[in-house]
Amino acid sequence: MSRRILVTGAGGMLGTEVLSVLGTGPGKEVTGWSRMGADYGHRPVDATSAQQVVSAFADQDFDVCVHCVANADVQQCQDDPQAARQVNAETTRIVAESCARHGVKLVYISTEYVFDGTAENGYAESDTPAPLQIYGRTKREGELHASRVPGHLIVRLPVLYGARVAGRGPTWTEKLLHALERHEPVELDDRFERQPTWTHDVAVTLKRAVEADLDGVLHVAAQEGLTKYAWGRKIAEATGMPVSLVRPANTSSEAPVIPKPARPWLRTERLEGLGVRPPGGVSHRLSPFLRSIGVLSPAGAD
Ligand SMILES: NC(=O)c1ccc[n+]([C@@H]2O[C@H](COP(=O)([O-])OP(=O)(O)OC[C@H]3O[C@@H](n4cnc5c(N)ncnc54)[C@H](OP(=O)(O)O)[C@@H]3O)[C@@H](O)[C@H]2O)c1
Repeated sequence: MSRRILVTGAGGMLGTEVLSVLGTGPGKEVTGWSRMGADYGHRPVDATSAQQVVSAFADQDFDVCVHCVANADVQQCQDDPQAARQVNAETTRIVAESCARHGVKLVYISTEYVFDGTAENGYAESDTPAPLQIYGRTKREGELHASRVPGHLIVRLPVLYGARVAGRGPTWTEKLLHALERHEPVELDDRFERQPTWTHDVAVTLKRAVEADLDGVLHVAAQEGLTKYAWGRKIAEATGMPVSLVRPANTSSEAPVIPKPARPWLRTERLEGLGVRPPGGVSHRLSPFLRSIGVLSPAGAD
């Protein structure tokens, strides 16, 4: 089926990957919107501007919109709730209204931070969100706006890792590796278990979800749990760096400054019931990721 796909936030970490993966294959016509615009092969649209969104929807037809715009920086959202609401909730409302008006299917990218992380067995799509901080609350507001579009799909994701995007500084993985190269010890949180998932794998799963015209809510998450400390050790091991330099942060007695969900585990039975395996965890996907960003040599090259 021919699909005209719009990706908002196409200059972001996930948006870059979604634009690239969803654009492959016959009959696909993919347009990226970003504030950076034509220099990056995108249409210059700032999705926070209702006027720009309305006029861009009026002069180009789409079947599907994958809405990746958000401020995913939990600290920044906490520091400026009004700005967070503008980008995460209000922008989604603007995009959702245009999708509804033009009969476009909206795929809204959401987060495990809509949950409080207290459920022992994790969360299914039908569980009730209870966000603890501004980021989670404004993303939940975005979900509610998205849910008013007929045929919408809300995709909740866990913490992501991916390639550095144009015009930005080094990623968390790169900063860690730079510190280890300089033989500097790095202290990482060992309290909060997360499900780190590669953006490329998310994009591949999203492509299948879009092709299958799924609706409702869908969790897409690796089913391997790691703290940042355990994750950092795996990165050190995979790259031959001194693992002993990666140390658990000494914060066991401190409450986090921003309330964070202890274990907002995203369960993926719905995905599996559709015959789709969830993305692999760090143990399986770290090496291909590190090869993709040139940190490890291509497979078979050494
Ligand atoms: N990163 C994670 O670990 C994580 C985890 C779970 C869910 N998510 C969700 O995944 C989606 C993509 O996140 P990401 O990690 O790819 O984030 P990202 O790299 O920061 O990209 C988000 C994009 O949103 C747009 N944006 C951000 N702030 C803006 C502002 N003030 N005004 C206008 N546009 C703004 C930018 O679009 P342009 O510059 O391209 O215009 C930016 O590239 C988000 O919905 C996020 O909530 C992320």
